[in-house]
Amino acid sequence: MEKVRVDIENKGYDIKIGEKLLDNISSYISNEYKWMIVTDSNVWSIYGELFERELGGNKPVLYSITPGEEQKNLHTVTEIIKSMLENNFTRGDKIIALGGGVIGDMAGFCAAIFMRGISFVQIPTTLLAQVDSSVGGKTGVNLPEAKNIIGAFHQPELVLIDTSVLKTLPPREVVTGLGEIIKYGLIEDYSFFRYVVSNLNGIISLDQGIMPGIIKRCCEIKAKIVTQDERERGIRKFLNLGHTIAHALETATEYKIYTHGEAVLLGIYYEAKMALKMGLIENAYGEEILRAIKATKINLSLKGFSVSRLIDIMINDKKNKDNRISFILPRGRGRVEEYLLERNIAQSILLDISEV
Ligand SMILES: NC(=O)c1ccc[n+]([C@@H]2O[C@H](COP(=O)([O-])OP(=O)(O)OC[C@H]3O[C@@H](n4cnc5c(N)ncnc54)[C@H](O)[C@@H]3O)[C@@H](O)[C@H]2O)c1
Repeated sequence: MEKVRVDIENKGYDIKIGEKLLDNISSYISNEYKWMIVTDSNVWSIYGELFERELGGNKPVLYSITPGEEQKNLHTVTEIIKSMLENNFTRGDKIIALGGGVIGDMAGFCAAIFMRGISFVQIPTTLLAQVDSSVGGKTGVNLPEAKNIIGAFHQPELVLIDTSVLKTLPPREVVTGLGEIIKYGLIEDYSFFRYVVSNLNGIISLDQGIMPGIIKRCCEIKAKIVTQDERERGIRKFLNLGHTIAHALETATEYKIYTHGEAVLLGIYYEAKMALKMGLIENAYGEEILRAIKATKINLSLKGFSVSRLIDIMINDKKNKDNRISFILPRGRGRVEEYLLERNIAQSILLDISEV
């Protein structure tokens, strides 16, 4: 088993990474507490039996939702919290977030606000959640107007990453995880980016020889960044590479067309094009990024999108300052910086680089 420490003062925790960790789940779930498992019906239909068998003596309360980003809202949060009250949960009890980023964000948010905060464990089951969303303590839900606009920073007490659960992921969800993996290389570690690009097929086929190492490297980079800047006052913003455009695409399509990770792949593609257009990176490096994203074979066309509508959405982005839109853009190999652009400038660059 591999271990990465997130060393945030007074609330540090371990990320444990390995194959078949869930076969030993009872050794991580103390029966001193009452537990609620928040999950979705896809995940529970595959792993519910294992949990019921392994946690037999300490039967957790189950709250299973319909899968999907549309469920990541305040209504679901209220229902989960009502169920905790009905089951007499108190401040000493705990939540397990078992699922992808939707479950992790929402269950984590319930843990952040139930009785002003209780403890929770992240058990991420998608590639995206294992390399990114389960680490760092960002929790929250969407409003129709803006993604992740209601939320809290609330760190888990443990992140348990069982790489064998990836085997049941639909292929689309594997590609979805690639966006965040590529992101880590681009913001912090160019040689990791090269390694990822040259092992793209191995990642897509979930080669167990390379997956634990790739997941661990992403967690190490995220752990390092959030340890230095838990509340996103500085370098944590860099984790938003690709996300200004991604969130606008997701909001414009009401979360129905792209998975979050697909939107991030498009976001990185177009933000790399912005960096090229603005002269922030050499052509050779820019082309290398564009080739990497194209190699994932996702559809990169923005046909049917109104750039001015996308900009309208970006104006509500949480990172913005003084009415200028915040973009995290590549600035060199393995390096990014924040650029704040006036609406009309952002719009004219985007119009120029959009591919239809
Ligand atoms: N908190 C953060 O720092 C952070 C970072 C990145 C993304 N996010 C959030 O993460 C969310 C996206 O997460 P996601 O991509 O994991 O999507 P998701 O949670 O919707 O999961 C994707 C699909 O995979 C299914 N699934 C999950 N695990 C499975 C498994 N092992 N086998 C079979 N099916 C499985 C789910 O049922 C779902 O249908 C977005 O809401 C995004 O905003 C948060």
